[in-house]
Amino acid sequence: MAKILVVYYSFEGNTKLIADSIATAVGADILRLEVERELKSHGFAKYLWGGRQVVMKSKPRIKPLDKSPTEYDTLFIGTPVWAYTFSPALRTFFSTVKLSGKKIALFCSCGGDRRKTFEHMKAQLAGNEILGEFETIEPLKNDTSGQTQRVVAWAKQMLKV
Ligand SMILES: Cc1cc2nc3c(=O)[nH]c(=O)nc-3n(C[C@H](O)[C@H](O)[C@H](O)COP(=O)(O)O)c2cc1C
Repeated sequence: MAKILVVYYSFEGNTKLIADSIATAVGADILRLEVERELKSHGFAKYLWGGRQVVMKSKPRIKPLDKSPTEYDTLFIGTPVWAYTFSPALRTFFSTVKLSGKKIALFCSCGGDRRKTFEHMKAQLAGNEILGEFETIEPLKNDTSGQTQRVVAWAKQMLKV
């Protein structure tokens, strides 16, 4: 059986909901990326702090990984969209874990404008086979069960590709 890993970062829980749903549905292990010094603000200031990290291409230190991503055949990689791209924790991940020859499916949670997030992720993942991509829009507060069902159907489809 192929080994499957769901790797994700989530600041406010939306991406976590989707990651957990995928992992349960396809029997995957989970690796949650956690930054050592997490943003504290949940008000408007979070956009300033988070946005600045994106613009600066920051690579925040992340806690030691409890799974070894290179040991898996297929990975689902998920992120919230920050400033129209993937989150800084993912930048740290991409720069420290070199994946190649893997099958990878991408997912994100956003407020409705992801722009080129998936293209930016693909550029970081050259040398792998990208199976597909799926966007959710803040599933904790919008059509939670509908979005969860659709992402689960998509994830199962990815494994048949
Ligand atoms: C710093 C920051 C920047 C964001 N930038 C965008 C953006 O460019 N486009 C968008 O659609 N949503 C943006 N959002 C909203 C998040 O992508 C959205 O709320 C997402 O569901 C959060 O996922 P999470 O709960 O897993 O952290 C931003 C949120 C934060 C905190």
